[in-house]
Amino acid sequence: MSAIEESGGDQGPARRRPRYSGTHPKSYEQKYKEHNIEAYPQIEAHLREKGTTPAGTHVPVLVEEVMEWLRPAPGEVVVDCTVGYGGHALEFIKRIGPTGRLIALDVDAAELERTGRRLSKEDVPVSIHRGNFAGIAKVLNQEKLDGFDIIFADLGVSSMQIDDHERGMSYKHEGPLDLRMDDRLKRTGADLLSSLSEEELANALWELADEPDHRKIAQMIVGRRADQPIARTSQLVRIIFDAKGLDMKTWRRQQQVSNSGSLHPAARAFQALRILVNDELGSLREFLRLVPYCLRPGGRIGVISFHSGEDRLVKHSFRDGTRTGVYESIARDIIVPGPEEARSNPRSASAKFRWAIR
Ligand SMILES: C[S@@+](CC[C@H](N)C(=O)[O-])C[C@H]1O[C@@H](n2cnc3c(N)ncnc32)[C@H](O)[C@@H]1O
Repeated sequence: MSAIEESGGDQGPARRRPRYSGTHPKSYEQKYKEHNIEAYPQIEAHLREKGTTPAGTHVPVLVEEVMEWLRPAPGEVVVDCTVGYGGHALEFIKRIGPTGRLIALDVDAAELERTGRRLSKEDVPVSIHRGNFAGIAKVLNQEKLDGFDIIFADLGVSSMQIDDHERGMSYKHEGPLDLRMDDRLKRTGADLLSSLSEEELANALWELADEPDHRKIAQMIVGRRADQPIARTSQLVRIIFDAKGLDMKTWRRQQQVSNSGSLHPAARAFQALRILVNDELGSLREFLRLVPYCLRPGGRIGVISFHSGEDRLVKHSFRDGTRTGVYESIARDIIVPGPEEARSNPRSASAKFRWAIR
């Protein structure tokens, strides 16, 4: 069972994906079989064996740890605030069914419908809301509940969002500098690059991604945009390389020689821009403020974060909550993936999990 509710905005018509007639699809659009993985299960098995995440899917992180600490039980009401592909949601469903209830939120309409369909095959009532988790209190009212037993959020972006070149989230793919998770937002990454002052850009690069060359990059963005709008991922990557005095060939050679998976020079700047476009820290602050009012006594909150700015907010909110008596107990330290998970799913490497009990 599933119900889709919209908290404002228009999803618009679904995008058509062109079919690809070759044998080695490269772009996200060409991988149409991977987008319809339920119809091609052998493709999913093959790709996972190779250690790749099929396009259009997402491998959930820290699943065992999340289930162990949040302890979902039959009959409980769980809200998954970042349902994405539904990996964690499915694990919750297995444990709360058949008498429990799952409420799923996401800002991104692109995958919500498909995830909703997949989750609705399970034997637990599922309601789906398109909305920001900063509006969690509104969802509680809409669902006519007095509180949730479990509130869960797996922050950041999904593999589907990163892999979709048209969203411009990755320095690896040529595409427009959009970077919005919610296409109802007014300003894209390109809009921010054209309107923020040099000081604002430098601060964002430093505060949201610890980019050491924040001043040089901000200066170069402001210089280049006077000639031409910075609207494509490749333009931003070029600016970052120039600001750091690097060229692509040297960088690739250095990578091969050191055989290291060190951070791509543009990774921090793309992260900062994405956080800014989506006001990720503002949403997280509001969510953490409201959570205690939305949990039943004995209820549990769990958050997986992927960078220090997010983790700091979670840590302080939980710690302050124990001081004021809102939380009875909290995770003493961060819980991180074991070596096997970090190896088999490189995207899990920076994940940090914290929990608290009301
Ligand atoms: C890391 S993915 C979640 C993956 C999911 N746990 C799974 O197993 O498939 C993060 C998801 O959260 C969504 N998201 C990010 N910020 C959000 C917010 N403030 N409110 C609601 N959804 C958000 C993104 O659109 C994305 O789909």
